Amino acid sequence: MAKKMWGGRFKKKVDSYFFEFQKSISYDYKLAEYDIYHSIIHVIALKEANILEAPEAKKLISVLSDISKEVKEGRFKPNPNSEDIHTDIQNRVEKKVGKLAHKLHTLRSRNDQVVFDEKWYCYKEGVYILGLLNVILASLNHWGGKYRKVFIPGYTHTQRAQVVSFLNYTGAFFCMLERDFERMDSFLKKSSIYVGSGALAGSAIPRSAYSEAIKKFLVHTKGELQHSKSETVRNSLDNVASRDFVIEFLSILSILQMHLSRMAEDFIMYSTKEFGFFDLPDEFCTGSSLMPHKKNPDFLELARGNTGRVYGNLLAVLITMKGLPLTYNRDMQLDKEPLFSSTKIVKDELKIMNDLISKIKLNKDRIELVLEDEELYATELVEFLVYEGVPFSDAHKVIGKLTVYSRDKNIKIKDMPDKTLKTFNEKLNHRLVRKIMNPEYAVSSKKSLSAHKRVSSAKSK
Ligand code: ARG
Repeated sequence: MAKKMWGGRFKKKVDSYFFEFQKSISYDYKLAEYDIYHSIIHVIALKEANILEAPEAKKLISVLSDISKEVKEGRFKPNPNSEDIHTDIQNRVEKKVGKLAHKLHTLRSRNDQVVFDEKWYCYKEGVYILGLLNVILASLNHWGGKYRKVFIPGYTHTQRAQVVSFLNYTGAFFCMLERDFERMDSFLKKSSIYVGSGALAGSAIPRSAYSEAIKKFLVHTKGELQHSKSETVRNSLDNVASRDFVIEFLSILSILQMHLSRMAEDFIMYSTKEFGFFDLPDEFCTGSSLMPHKKNPDFLELARGNTGRVYGNLLAVLITMKGLPLTYNRDMQLDKEPLFSSTKIVKDELKIMNDLISKIKLNKDRIELVLEDEELYATELVEFLVYEGVPFSDAHKVIGKLTVYSRDKNIKIKDMPDKTLKTFNEKLNHRLVRKIMNPEYAVSSKKSLSAHKRVSSAKSK
């Protein structure tokens, strides 16, 4: 058991089994970088408040900066016996500067640190996720552009519905992920990261000292943090008690995960022999240990399956926070594993999905075969009749009957003579039907769309 940050008022030693149970170092070490930010701001504030001498502050900042370097270079190894990351860094500083470290935590609480650290984590990861979204948006654009002349069957209820352009299809996922981008972007824009809450009631260090500390800290980090809004605290009780930012971040990830999962499902389905539209890249599939012919879409299945975990993580934090009395409660320590888990899952999926998209091949022969299904053009026949002045519900009925007739008699509509067609409606004829029941015609007859241009270019962030 490493040195703890409390204990004076206890007569008995903490139970070792319980100590293990309550530790968070095995996961909150991920917050090390941000915890050091908090410490540096705090040391500057203590100096501004004349609690620390300038040389003392300088020494502490220099040691903290060394630890920060270790973290950034991946050399930081947390002591597994530490209670949490805050304690770990405190002990580390003590090892390097001895007793001076006892002044580091002056008038400070881990309650203030932990929320500061987590907000920073969400901020940094959010910026990273925006970058990944940008890349996948560009790939979707590129993919659609590459097959811009291709038409595919569109589905409702997983039943063949109408023909759409492939660009329109990829554009649908583009639009979904673009909204995810906007959601994350607006989350980041409104994020505020506070210092000065103390344990809950505020701190005896003056607000002006904190403001000065934040200003100096921002100079110290040379603009690296310019997008964040580090501020002196607005309401200290709210700050230490609230984790709605974690819930919001997990909600954004959950919606994004839903989109990735739907994309995965489409790709799985379209790559089955039954559909056969897509050929998935070998690199992201696995084989069967028994059946030699198999190529299984394992990445896509795992991406779809992870939705259970990502939604579960959101629900776990929502439920943990429900009904907690103000302000900080230890229950709140349990928000970290769900937060880290969903972040990692979504980041990994965005990266791999992007690589997979760039390598999926379209099986045009198979797609063209399916596009010969005349039922895909039934709606276009109705549209034609409507423009010829036939009331919509009459036209709908006529084409419905024609479709059933074609199926029952096993004769293609395109092969029916004028005589037969005219028994359904006098406006129908062989030449016309052949013109309408065609992918180019079907897609170009949709005048409400923006000329099937490529969707707006990817974000510049
Ligand atoms: N490990 C704690 C958490 O993640 C840090 C805050 C501890 N505060 C306390 N009063 N025990 O929530």
